[in-house]
Amino acid sequence: MNEQTAPSVPEETVPFQQWPKVELHRHLEGSVRFETAWQWARKNPALAHLEQEKLRRLIEFDGVRDFAHFLGRFRVLRQLYTAPDAVRQVAREAVEDAALENIRYLELRFSPDHFASHAGFDMEDVASWILEAARAAAHDHGVEVRFLLTIARNYDFQTASRILSIALRFRDLGIVGLDLAGNELMYPAEPFVELFVRAREEGLGITVHAGEAGTAAHVWEAIDRLGAHRIGHGIRSADDPKLLEELRRRNISLEVCLTSNVQTGVVPSLAEHPLPRLLEARVPVVLCSDDPRVSRITLTDEWYNALQLGLSVEALTHLTMQAVEHTFLPADEKRGLRQRLAAEIASLIPGRPS
Ligand code: ADE
Ligand code: ZN
Repeated sequence: MNEQTAPSVPEETVPFQQWPKVELHRHLEGSVRFETAWQWARKNPALAHLEQEKLRRLIEFDGVRDFAHFLGRFRVLRQLYTAPDAVRQVAREAVEDAALENIRYLELRFSPDHFASHAGFDMEDVASWILEAARAAAHDHGVEVRFLLTIARNYDFQTASRILSIALRFRDLGIVGLDLAGNELMYPAEPFVELFVRAREEGLGITVHAGEAGTAAHVWEAIDRLGAHRIGHGIRSADDPKLLEELRRRNISLEVCLTSNVQTGVVPSLAEHPLPRLLEARVPVVLCSDDPRVSRITLTDEWYNALQLGLSVEALTHLTMQAVEHTFLPADEKRGLRQRLAAEIASLIPGRPS
């Protein structure tokens, strides 16, 4: 480990909230502040009759640890977008929230269909509203933001294909990748193989939700058929030593989201999360939040959860530096980010000149 990639950090240290962070797996769909959801729900007759606590139970984790139930939150959240300003506000606030916990680099993912379908907006319009609002907030708050477009597994081919076209058209506005999300137990990835192969050929980064509620076989499919550079969750890889070896060999990182995995019921408890085993197997891992406002957590909370699992502060800063290598940034931009983060982390270590 050289000094620039992993400064050594004493255990007694500043609160994690202040540490500079890199977030690579965060859904805009799951980043809606409750107050904002409440404000826009009042304007939709389909939701306006709900009492505040009822709405909360429908869009946040409600104690039911079940994968399909968790994903059901997004069917309600979709209904908030009755006006372009709702979409813009959610995008702006998601970036503000990231800034508040000192996320320095954020890859924010979203499905244009999620924000477009209720009101019948055009997906390209929606994408432009989100990109514009998030980029303005990023500028105001000093966060570097890039975007991934999400295709959900239940989408028809035409919708998925249009999402890829939008991703390619808006690359100049910061779109760097394509994501496959949704219910891997109910919907196969196979119909989307050709789109992901094309996206990769065009130079987009590829990440696929796989091996979350599913199995290691879903992860094999993601890396061998869809060309994934990163895997969303991928925790079931821990069951397959050959797969662990392959992820290590190809430098494919797992985007691990601890609380999400407990809330979706794909791990029985935080204490039983396979993260320590994945790290022991030296598989690349990045620590992420998934759906912070659905889960009622921040990335900072996930750092404390990782600490509970036995990771040291030094390991966490190492994961932060490693995350830079797994961003979908070009090499020169990675270099700049790496230098800025290393300098900031060094300045936080007591007794070291900044
Ligand atoms: N979309 C938002 N959160 C998700 C998750 N945990 N798994 C699959 N798709 C998602
Ligand atoms: Zn996710």
